Amino acid sequence: MKLEAILSPLELPALGKRDLRETVCVVFDVLRATSTFVTALHNGAKAIVPVSEISEALAIKKNQPDVLLGGERNGIRISPEGIDFDLGNSPREYTPEKVRSKTIVSTTTNGTRALRACFGAKIVLASSFLNLSATAKFLRQKNFGDILLVCAGTEENTAIEDVLAAGALCEILSSSATVGTLSDSAETALLTYTQTKSDLATAIGNSQNGRRLLVIPELRDDVAFCLQRDIFPIIAKMETNGAIRRG
Ligand code: MLT
Repeated sequence: MKLEAILSPLELPALGKRDLRETVCVVFDVLRATSTFVTALHNGAKAIVPVSEISEALAIKKNQPDVLLGGERNGIRISPEGIDFDLGNSPREYTPEKVRSKTIVSTTTNGTRALRACFGAKIVLASSFLNLSATAKFLRQKNFGDILLVCAGTEENTAIEDVLAAGALCEILSSSATVGTLSDSAETALLTYTQTKSDLATAIGNSQNGRRLLVIPELRDDVAFCLQRDIFPIIAKMETNGAIRRG
């Protein structure tokens, strides 16, 4: 098993030029897109369809009125003229009552774009601290060759919370004999995690998106929610049609 990481969203466009057919991509947008998707799937959502643009989400809703629209811009629920999205991007909104059996079309600033950038990979997983061990277990059991950890970031910048989750996954996988090599980028994530793991809350609370969320009263609890480790024993796997389902 070879582990590599993309630590900055500026690297995402290059993924389109890369042959990912033998690569497993694991996407992290800890604050909050992938945490939200994992929560929704655990709470019974049928599927999440990540799209890059608001216009794409609206076009799907026009043809399939039963889908729920979710997502954010600047952290806040999207409300284009005349249409309110059903959900924002807070994982705590995605309760069983709201999402059970529903398909949710979501567009977020970084997370859904990172997922879309991995399209064409052998397997694409959405991961988070909430389901980290389940993700690691799946990767270990299948013993894949090339694993690319994709940190979605915040706007144009690296997000430390994504690097820390990628590093935590590297730590679990490295403890197994199946890991052969870590690229310098994966090693960077691992070292960042091992040096920070005793106080993740402070590091993540000081991050760009952590600071933004912490000053919005109705969203501040999302930060602590997304830091919970392994509360959901599921994987979130993207199908070839782009929909993410519970695995
Ligand atoms: C994103 O996709 O950029 C994020 O999930 C932003 C957020 O909702 O906090």
